Amino acid sequence: MPSGTAQSADFVVVANRLPVDLEKLPDGSRRWKRSPGGLVTALEPMLRSRDGAWVGWPGLPDADVEPLVEDGLHLHPVRLSAKEVEEYYEGFSNGTLWPLYHDVVAPPVFHRHWWQAYVRVNERFAEVTAQVAAKGATVWVQDYQLQLLPAALRELRPDLRIGFFLHIPFPPTELFMQLPWRKRIVEGLLGADLVGFHTPGGARNFRWLATRLAGASPGHGRTEVIVGDRPVKLGPFPISIDSGELDRMSRSPEVQERAKQIRADLGDPKRVVLGVDRLDYTKGIDVRLQAFEELLAEGRIDAEDTVMIQLATPSRERVEHYQRMRADIEQAVGRINGEYARVGHPAVHYLHQSLPREELVAFFVAADVMLVTPLRDGMNLVAKEYVACRSDNGGVLVLSEFAGAALELKDALLVNPHDTDGVKNALYAALTMDRDEGRRRMRALRRQVLSHDVDRWARSFLDTLGLPPPEESKS
Ligand code: ADP
Ligand code: G6P
Repeated sequence: MPSGTAQSADFVVVANRLPVDLEKLPDGSRRWKRSPGGLVTALEPMLRSRDGAWVGWPGLPDADVEPLVEDGLHLHPVRLSAKEVEEYYEGFSNGTLWPLYHDVVAPPVFHRHWWQAYVRVNERFAEVTAQVAAKGATVWVQDYQLQLLPAALRELRPDLRIGFFLHIPFPPTELFMQLPWRKRIVEGLLGADLVGFHTPGGARNFRWLATRLAGASPGHGRTEVIVGDRPVKLGPFPISIDSGELDRMSRSPEVQERAKQIRADLGDPKRVVLGVDRLDYTKGIDVRLQAFEELLAEGRIDAEDTVMIQLATPSRERVEHYQRMRADIEQAVGRINGEYARVGHPAVHYLHQSLPREELVAFFVAADVMLVTPLRDGMNLVAKEYVACRSDNGGVLVLSEFAGAALELKDALLVNPHDTDGVKNALYAALTMDRDEGRRRMRALRRQVLSHDVDRWARSFLDTLGLPPPEESKS
């Protein structure tokens, strides 16, 4: 199925970002690099196996890019002007919706001109998608940046089968009700045939709002509402990772060797604690730094034999909350090292960098304790990645109960990130955990993660949407 020509793709993924990001180099030339975040991690392997097309923004303002095939994927770029990047992406998506949907852990900002840009850009995505999708095609719309797209697309192309999946939490109804444009958002989503969330709670909240705000009536059980005479299915679909691939990578001699080298570079400490996140205020990086610092201050751990590594992918660097949080975190790292490091032996190693996949896997293999402490997170794939990389059944996962992953990863040490003493005690328990207890927990976690991979997630969503499996759709 060629998908580079007009109206030719039978299966289309639409997301704000393409899976690769255009980067401008200092000499003015451009190159593609992998896009940040869990959405791309999850969807890229799925799209490869289905031979579909991907519609999205190439990551730079005012970039005119023709449709292209990059590393075997059919990409259809959507152009955004600098003003649209500011108002639709940095503004409404990441200054209004992101904090609102993450339990207002930072105050959302409501601006009418941001909303207008959001409407315009969603309409543009609908136009591009309508040009790419073949007659009767299946279109899978992703995430909070494109919540108006299902209805806008249905208007242009009633022949399409449309699914929508939200990669971030769907908020409690009383928080959602703060949004001045709440009705429009709910109506936008109801343009889909299936609306998916990570958790049953998200689906429940949306169902309530659909009936209160958009006049939907209850349908079949709790997994459907009726809009006009059209059924819209709703449900939880907890996303996952390509666990088999990570398991394989983590067993390779190169990765095992690199993991040993990392520990040697750290001075062969007794314990290595790791955090891996996009640099985002929802991730609770400050929470874990504080817990680590207090354990050092109380003398319960010693920087001579216990080190922490925080890897942080640069993210949304022009949005104010992100700038402030970065400054706070870097100050905390400086303070801890000022107090507890000695020359050539930092207590906290902090890298504001995105690492290549293999290198990241080596860090997972090298770490004794993985700290995942978001204040709120839709799923958190890092937690699952750590588990998938521990084929030795070693390592202990400390996981926030406010990450979607906590519903599945029950054998992690679950913590409330608002409770600093609780996080501290869990970190200490992880560092001192009896080997057999640790292995028992990791075995149970691995059973869950290896049997519930991203392929199973995609199949479950697309089956519910009514799309046949890839073999049938290709024949
Ligand atoms: P989010 O989607 O909010 O960023 P997730 O934990 O679901 O959070 O997904 C993050 C993805 O980004 C994971 O696949 C993770 O491995 C990757 N990632 C995070 N930090 C880094 C880093 N410093 N270097 C490379 N990859 C990273
Ligand atoms: C999260 C969101 C994605 C987003 C990613 C990276 O995973 O759910 O939609 O793409 O973060 O954020 P960015 O703003 O850089 O696209």
